[in-house]
Amino acid sequence: MAAVGSMNVPPYRQRFHLRIASIMHTWEPGTNTNAGATIDTAADPIEVFRRAWGTYRKVIRENYMFHREISAAQRKILDTVPGAVDVLDLGCGDASQIGEMFDAGKIGTYYGCDLSSHALDEARHHLEPLGKRARLLCRDMLSVLRESPGEHFDVVYSSYAMHHLPQEEKQEFFHECRRVLRRNGMLILADIMREEGETLTDYFDRYIERMDTDWVMLSMNERNSIQEHIRSCDFPEPPSLLKSMAAQAGFRDSQNLEKQTWHQAWRFGA
Ligand SMILES: C[S@@+](CC[C@H](N)C(=O)[O-])C[C@H]1O[C@@H](n2cnc3c(N)ncnc32)[C@H](O)[C@@H]1O
Repeated sequence: MAAVGSMNVPPYRQRFHLRIASIMHTWEPGTNTNAGATIDTAADPIEVFRRAWGTYRKVIRENYMFHREISAAQRKILDTVPGAVDVLDLGCGDASQIGEMFDAGKIGTYYGCDLSSHALDEARHHLEPLGKRARLLCRDMLSVLRESPGEHFDVVYSSYAMHHLPQEEKQEFFHECRRVLRRNGMLILADIMREEGETLTDYFDRYIERMDTDWVMLSMNERNSIQEHIRSCDFPEPPSLLKSMAAQAGFRDSQNLEKQTWHQAWRFGA
């Protein structure tokens, strides 16, 4: 499996990419090759997911990021697609929402990728109903996209992961998603998105203020570590920018599926 090179990676991410290149691998059940790896914590977008998946599990359980409403809205649209679908899940985490969005029989094949092998170890359990139709890759999502064959998937899905990419990589993300999708396929994108006209600094302040009042089941330490991650690693964009990137990449249409504060789901038609 080819490792990620420093080409096409913006300077501030190069150091991170070079350091993780050595631990990328095709994930096999029960392996956890990230254990003991030395990763620089500064601006490493997955450090918090490597160190503390249990905290994120609590965030999902308490529905602080509206996974419940978003998965239900996504299921509604996916139910309209006839037949079984081949799915690529970018930044799949523990894949806990896949069972909420699809009946097992609805999935032909499922490929999930994530840089956190801790998350993938949990994903394996959530994907058990799919048996050998599910494959997990401990890989960078852009590398997986670049190496995927064209017109290969019916659904590309990415939830709360794409906002980690800088803007130029987001444009590439849309181009690659469009390329790997079959005709009439769709990109389902759930993510945090800034309000139109909201600056990144205002977004950080408001999101963190909301977290302080609402995310009460997290300890102070857990909240602090997520807030640190948000301020250094999150780059949410407003929907208008994502829509124009999608149009530039050749997506035919876009549809908002759900909006809960900054948490949104969109469908982009190939
Ligand atoms: C907030 S979690 C979302 C997990 C899951 N998709 C969900 O909706 O609950 C973000 C995930 O994206 C992964 N991630 C971040 N950047 C990534 C990249 N460049 N390639 C692959 N995975 C990435 C992290 O390891 C983490 O598991």
